[in-house]
Amino acid sequence: MTDPGVPRKLASRPLNIVVGITGGIAAYKAVGVIRAFVLLGHDVHVVATDAALRFVGRPTLEAISRNPVHTDLYEGVAQVRHVAIGQAADLIVVAPATASSIAKLAIGLADDLLGTTILASSAPVVVAPAMHTEMWVNAATAANVATLQSRGIRVVGPGTGQLTGSDAGVGRMVEPDEIVAAALAALRPRDLSGRRVLVTAGGTREPIDPVRYIGNRSSGRQGVAIAGAAALRGATVELIGANLEVSPPPGVRLTEVSSAAELAAAAATSAASADIIIMAAAVADYRPEITTQSKIKKETQGDRLRIDLVKNPDILAGLASTRHRGQVIVGFAAETEPDDSALLALGRSKIVRKGADYLVLNRVGWTEGFAVPDNRVLVIDLAGDIVMEASGSKLSVADRILDLLA
Ligand code: CTP
Repeated sequence: MTDPGVPRKLASRPLNIVVGITGGIAAYKAVGVIRAFVLLGHDVHVVATDAALRFVGRPTLEAISRNPVHTDLYEGVAQVRHVAIGQAADLIVVAPATASSIAKLAIGLADDLLGTTILASSAPVVVAPAMHTEMWVNAATAANVATLQSRGIRVVGPGTGQLTGSDAGVGRMVEPDEIVAAALAALRPRDLSGRRVLVTAGGTREPIDPVRYIGNRSSGRQGVAIAGAAALRGATVELIGANLEVSPPPGVRLTEVSSAAELAAAAATSAASADIIIMAAAVADYRPEITTQSKIKKETQGDRLRIDLVKNPDILAGLASTRHRGQVIVGFAAETEPDDSALLALGRSKIVRKGADYLVLNRVGWTEGFAVPDNRVLVIDLAGDIVMEASGSKLSVADRILDLLA
């Protein structure tokens, strides 16, 4: 399985991830975090405090992490383990982080193995707090969290909801998936910081009548992945979503559209301020010439219905022809050609026709390309040269495309 968006130089090998577990009831959820990292192919080393092992058993953590669990500062002294684990780590995730462990981290206390591991490491650190609301909102905790953030430590959560007892409020540790995503995002470069990126995603629907449309099978997954990855890399992202089947990523401004005409209008408004435009949307080439205002009825149509279609304007070509200096424009081309050479030939003539700087080519068919989590793409430039090939999750493909642009 490919990482959901880890930079290429790190993605080419399994990451060494330290999961620090401290003593709170949410420790049982740390098992889900460890499992997710392991299933992504990473090498996970658990450093648990003594208190953590009162909440979740060592055998569970060892079985799930597939490595011994470390707790004792005085174990492995010959291997200088108190610093070696931290020195070898690519990433440290503390989940759950109790109020006490956050306080210790804030003052740099190294009286246990987790403390020494974190102090000895230069890896990104992500903490997922979990505690009762009163402890979270206490001024001491708030000041400690602010200290961690000022040092670049990422704090994910806490969420709001049912707490351990009958009470509810802010303080719940966020779910493992969110912790894993935030942790992997911490490894991304902020190389699009200060850039404005416009992404279109999804598939347009061209109305026939108030209840019917002509559409396509694009789910918006690839464009949404690009928008999300660009935001995580520091860009200001505007996403124009046409009938998205997936949730928009956090941190992007979404404009929802349906038809090609609406997409064209939204893109025209946003394009001028964009440094990079990525046209991942599947735009209908034709629309019904007439959209009837009431539902077309069989009784009046008989056995055959004829709908005349007229050509939609080419949005990408239009944006490329009015682009400002320095603006980078990326198009997509989904083709059904069975072999790469035919795919490339189509792509080469298409990029010239459209005037984009890059064209991302992928193969689509009944079973590939649409509404699936993975993708394989070839990227060509205006000269027709292949500048990048990538395959894997749509998020990892998104990062590879952004590597090229950044
Ligand atoms: N595109 C666009 N406006 C259109 C049609 C397509 O902006 N009316 C954009 C798409 O967003 C994509 C690129 O152009 O980035 C290529 O889309 P594609 O449908 O593959 O190209 P077509 O122009 O439809 O060419 P063909 O009919 O030959 O496939």
